[in-house]
Amino acid sequence: MAENQSLMQVTDKVLSPDRVITGARLSEGEYKLLYQQSIQDPEGFWGRIASEELVWEKKWDQVLEWNYPNYRWFTNARMNITVNCLDRHVQAGKRHNLAYIWVGEDGQEKKISYGELLDRVCRLGNALRAMGIKKGDTVTIYMPLMLEQMVAMLACARIGAVHSVVYGGFSAPALRLRIEAAQSRVVITSSWTRRRGKKINLKSVVDEAIDGLSVVEKVIVAQREGDDYELLPNEVDFQDVLRAYPKTCVPESMDSEDPLFILYTSGTTGKPKGVLHTCGGYNVFTHYTAKYVFDLHEDDLFWCTADPGWVTGHSYIVYGPLSNGATSLMSEGSPDYPDPSRWWKLVERFGVNVFYTAPTAVRMFMKHGEKYCEQADLSSLRILGSVGEPINPEAWQWYHKNIGKGRCTIVDTWWQTETGGHMITTLPSVMQKPGKAGLPMFGIEPMVVDKSGNPVPANTVGHLVIKKPWPSALRTCWGESERFEQYWNSMPGFYYAGDLATCDEDGYFMILGRADDVLSVSGHRIGTAEVESALVSHPSVAEAAVIGKPHDVKGESIKGFVILKTGHNPSDSLKDNIRTHIRRELGALAMPDELEFVDGLPKTRSGKIMRRVLKAKELGMPLGDTSTLEE
Ligand code: PRX
Repeated sequence: MAENQSLMQVTDKVLSPDRVITGARLSEGEYKLLYQQSIQDPEGFWGRIASEELVWEKKWDQVLEWNYPNYRWFTNARMNITVNCLDRHVQAGKRHNLAYIWVGEDGQEKKISYGELLDRVCRLGNALRAMGIKKGDTVTIYMPLMLEQMVAMLACARIGAVHSVVYGGFSAPALRLRIEAAQSRVVITSSWTRRRGKKINLKSVVDEAIDGLSVVEKVIVAQREGDDYELLPNEVDFQDVLRAYPKTCVPESMDSEDPLFILYTSGTTGKPKGVLHTCGGYNVFTHYTAKYVFDLHEDDLFWCTADPGWVTGHSYIVYGPLSNGATSLMSEGSPDYPDPSRWWKLVERFGVNVFYTAPTAVRMFMKHGEKYCEQADLSSLRILGSVGEPINPEAWQWYHKNIGKGRCTIVDTWWQTETGGHMITTLPSVMQKPGKAGLPMFGIEPMVVDKSGNPVPANTVGHLVIKKPWPSALRTCWGESERFEQYWNSMPGFYYAGDLATCDEDGYFMILGRADDVLSVSGHRIGTAEVESALVSHPSVAEAAVIGKPHDVKGESIKGFVILKTGHNPSDSLKDNIRTHIRRELGALAMPDELEFVDGLPKTRSGKIMRRVLKAKELGMPLGDTSTLEE
């Protein structure tokens, strides 16, 4: 009886035309009804969410303005995302609620409340303004997973500067490329990070990256315990800066469509593209998906194990959880160091309720064996998330049984840097199908189509496309609008995701992997062309091709085929030398596991390398259509 009543209340609220309830668990039937509403009237749907969930300085004239392929959400509305993430919680009496709990690899712990976070964001915002950074300027952030990283991102957002976070695992040339492309006058970094017990110097990477780069005027360095070197004339200490500036900072009044951040990601060319997200729509969508998909409540402890160097960290460590007033845990260092019980001990120690990670981590724990997670009490967990690559049914079952103890829902969330937030996902309480990402998020209309854009029958492999824009869709590629247009022009009328998928009779989507030359190595997106151009920049390499091979932990591993220049002889030491060169050029994440010296590469008659043929040969699979193959 009581259960029926509460269900009726939920249903009533969900279906009431003037109010869309969030944060409630929905039954499958309720999901379907609400989804239909969101598709029939997306503007009404998102307008209601935006009104009810967020604070706006000025409301919009129109929810969506769509001039294909460009779109604007919440036109002429004004707001600042940090007000939704910080000020409003502090003003509502939650100054002492925790925003983050940080744990270092050596076990050190730090906590920061919403009030303290707001103070620090304001101080750094004031400092950036004093350095001449104004609305629309870009700031590059190259930091490890530490509280100062969140402060840096939010301080930029506070004053309307556009942050460009570069993952701390990228090498100096990769960082330089991104700083130059974004034209950042200020870089925020830290002295070092710790990985597997070793200190890794990050500041020296910045030094090398900006050497001779006149655009960079100042480097703000978050110094850490034990640092004793003298700062260079162009450097200032993060903590000194905080101390020097006041803890109130008027938030910049932002148009809903003003840029919030750029995030460089890999595409099919050698050059990464700067995906641009804007303020209003991104805030609405990440707030809403964090709340619904993770069923996030203020007293929940949420742990997204990503790094803010990737979009998962932007949306579900920083903006989504903070906008919901939740508390997040974060942990610097490796998941299996000093041993593979580390993460599970943290879940027990802090009582994590919602846990979000990548299948590659699950597969790694699977390999280590159950004994490490059995040592910890995981009873606080309610929801488990997966992101970044398809979760194979074996890993799904292992995660469900050993971490979720058969109790927790697994939400498999499919999305991309470009989409800003979850697009296809399992929702808590809605049926889970192992290995399938699930149903579309509200307001999202995905389809599986053939090469000409025609829908394919159920359970048939095709290209994943999305009809119509959604609030957090990328707005452009920084300085390269033609690359943005490709998303909407590859399959005219649709957003082309670049993934292969199927959809079953129940409308559940299964993501099979990329349709293009983009690899997913340990859940990190890497373009084959990026690795190839780094390979050919080695003095001994004439030509190179790269493929992804199935890998039981990483999902995919990189194999490179290399033609040497005349006068260079194949040897193991040359292989090592070339691999080290890739680490120096791009970072360890792009280092090929295997290299093979070859005399030729399969090419089309027009000279394009047929990676598909290389891959089929490597895996002993049928070569497929080779009619365009050069003799
Ligand atoms: O191939 C899909 C895969 O990751 C790609 C997007 O990579 P990135 O922009 O780096 O963002 C990763 C984190 C959102 C997609 O094109 N991908 C992401 N999530 C899933 C996935 N593949 C299968 N299942 C997922 N849940």
